[in-house]
Amino acid sequence: MKSRASIKSHPIHTMLIPFPFAFLTGGWVFGVAGALLKNRDLTTVWRHLVPAGVAAGLVAAVPGIIDYAESVPPDSSAKSRAARHGMLNSTAMLLFAAGWMISRRSRRNPTLPLAVQGMGATVLSIGSWLGGTLVVRNQIGVDHRYANKGKWAEDTREHAGGYALLAAARGLGVNQMKLVHAGGERIAVGRTEDGYAAFDDRCTHRGGPLSDGVLICGTVQCPWHGSQFDVTTGEVKCGPAEKPITAYAVGGEERRPTSGGVLRRHAPSRR
Ligand code: FES
Repeated sequence: MKSRASIKSHPIHTMLIPFPFAFLTGGWVFGVAGALLKNRDLTTVWRHLVPAGVAAGLVAAVPGIIDYAESVPPDSSAKSRAARHGMLNSTAMLLFAAGWMISRRSRRNPTLPLAVQGMGATVLSIGSWLGGTLVVRNQIGVDHRYANKGKWAEDTREHAGGYALLAAARGLGVNQMKLVHAGGERIAVGRTEDGYAAFDDRCTHRGGPLSDGVLICGTVQCPWHGSQFDVTTGEVKCGPAEKPITAYAVGGEERRPTSGGVLRRHAPSRR
């Protein structure tokens, strides 16, 4: 899913996080080295790097929170992973800040603050690992540009009726999709060789965003683990998903699921 907090498709959160990670873990290493070697210069670097790291972490958290709210698909494995990522990194910030405050009170003995910050470095590493998983496996922040993808787009409609979905789908090329936020729901609309199709954006395996996947010959493939669904009937054509998605009739006042594999098709304009 493309990042909402981005500059020319480059996620701001990803650009900023090297700073707090390097400042905090690097500062802790300087602190340990200063204590072992009884070197005041190294200890001074530690005392300055840690608060700089906490401040950089707070700044980096802002675009991260925006992406958590806007880009990570709801009710998915990525959403719970992103929540754990945020909680672990927040805990790490608190541990580093607590260690820094302790070090200011007992300047002669750095053992306790370094121990607290050592725990912070461990927690931060685990949280960062989860952040990496969100990118390389869940593709959060990835702006897909493959054949027939077109310009990845979102649309917002007040109503989720069939006509609203049809209006949102207008202009799509064959095998292109877009995500429509309609009536508080996320519905993918796409254009097949035969007409327009609408279906739940949420993959029934682990909640992957189908609108960010690939649509070919009336079949949509989830970008996370490759499950495939028939966009006409919602049936699973290939796992690991086992449950079908809900496909909707395009057109009509109300939004209604297709039943028995019957999809009301609307031939796209030739223009
Ligand atoms: S979330 Fe696993 S295949 Fe879609």
